[in-house]
Parts: sequence; C-alpha cells; structure tokens
Amino acid sequence: MKRVSLSTDEIRRKVDALGPWFHNLDLHGVPTAPSHFLGDYPAVKWQNFAEVVPESLKGKTVLDIGCNAGFYAMEMKRRGADRVLGLDSRDEYLAQARFAAEVNDLDVEFRNLSVYDVGKLGETFDLVIFMGVLYHLRHPLLALDLIYEHVAGDMMLFQSMQRGSTRTAELDQNYDFWTTDQFESDEFPKLHFIEHRYADDPTNWWIPNRNCAEAMLRSAGFVITAHPESEVYLCRRGKRPQSDGAVYPAGRSRG
Ligand SMILES: C[S@@+](CC[C@H](N)C(=O)[O-])C[C@H]1O[C@@H](n2cnc3c(N)ncnc32)[C@H](O)[C@@H]1O
Repeated sequence: MKRVSLSTDEIRRKVDALGPWFHNLDLHGVPTAPSHFLGDYPAVKWQNFAEVVPESLKGKTVLDIGCNAGFYAMEMKRRGADRVLGLDSRDEYLAQARFAAEVNDLDVEFRNLSVYDVGKLGETFDLVIFMGVLYHLRHPLLALDLIYEHVAGDMMLFQSMQRGSTRTAELDQNYDFWTTDQFESDEFPKLHFIEHRYADDPTNWWIPNRNCAEAMLRSAGFVITAHPESEVYLCRRGKRPQSDGAVYPAGRSRG
C-alpha cells in the first residue's frame, strides 16, 4: 500500500473534492462530515457497541458490506485483523474509503460489489459487518440469505434502522387461517414498505420493527448473541430454522 504524506491543506482539498461524505472521519485533524445530522457519526454510534467486538482480531478476516467511507473497516484493521475487505455499490464512497485508509496508513482493500453478489467472493470471513444496509435494499431477506449462504463464517455485526414497536413478543410456530388478531398487534413482526421516500432518501425501502429485524435474522440462520444498543446485534452463524432455507437458494418447501 502506498503511504501518503499530505499537508492539512492538501487533505482538506481532497476531502472537499471527494465529498459529500456520510461518514465523519478525522483525517489528521480534517473532519470529513462535521455537520452530519447525527453528530460525530459513526463514532458516536460505535462507542455504544464497540465492546461486543473482540478487542483483538489478530488472525481474523473481516468483510464490511456497505462500507461507505470505511469507518468500520478501518476500526477492524486497527483491532489487528489480518485481512479486511470493504464492499460498496457506489464508487464515490469507495474513493473516499481508499483515500481515508491511505491517509490513516491502514491496509484495507475496497471493492465495488453489491451484497447480492457476495457469492462471487468465493470465501467466508470470520466477521461480517452488515450495518445500515438492510433497509436500503429492495430484497432484504435475500441479502441475509446470501450472506448466510456464501460469506458468513462465524460472527456478524448487524444494524438496521427500526421503526414501530420496540417490544418483543413470543411468536407462535403456526397461526390458524381464521386467527387474525396477531396482525393488529404492534409487536408482530412488521416490515414497513416505503413506496416513495423516507428522510428524503429514495433508497429507503423497508424498515422493520424490532421484532421483525430479530425474526429476519433468525429466519436467515443467525443466532443473536448480543444486543448492545437498540438497532445493533452481534450474531453467530447458526443452523437455519428451515433446513432448505426460506426461499433462496433451494426454493423448496418451508417444512
Ligand atoms: C447508511 S450507509 C451505511 C454505511 C456503514 N455501513 C455504516 O453503518 O455507517 C449504507 C451504505 O450501503 C451501501 N449500499 C446500498 N446498497 C448496497 C448494495 N446493494 N450492496 C452494497 N452496498 C450497498 C450504500 O452505498 C451506502 O454506502
């Protein structure tokens, strides 16, 4: 990796040229998104759950899906991961991530690849990070199924925006056709479809309530091992509750 040694003014000019930024990174004293509507983001969020990620990732591989400007990918490299790969579907974010990693002298690889194409990687990773992407997808459960199937080795750090009830409720294994009360209850798993825009963002498609986010993780085969803040889960790859998978890739009966 080439090491860059730039003056503060040069970093500031490059940061301006690569903007606008979603991640507020501190690049040798130059903030990339100082007016972020969520504050010093994602640093303020990370501090709420940093302790659930192993302090040392020595000997581990990490895949950050939807890495944006690379905040989490770089944090994992700082924790000593052997290899960190960041994926995003937008080149402008990948350019930011590559520049930030160079300025920080961190050896992280960034690649343009959609979550729907993770099968092309042909390898699994000890830790998969899938933060802030689910609700931007038109096919969220497919994405979780593909991650489970192709790249999840052991742990997954997951985050989704949630709206609606934050209560959890025991779900029955089956519901009679004529029993419809459960659909009226706030805590029944609900995925809210955004036909137009939410928060001015046309890429927000499906926003789960808490019970839905957790049920989707379980349905894809992930076991929730920690829930350090309302939207964030640490999972391990478990056994799928339905042996053939919910829909993809076998597409057979749900048993
Ligand atoms: C809200 S940002 C989250 C960034 C970062 N993971 C975080 O938690 O701060 C969503 C990111 O997902 C990326 N993204 C959206 N759809 C994607 C897809 N199909 N495959 C990979 N990345 C995607 C966007 O380009 C964007 O960088």
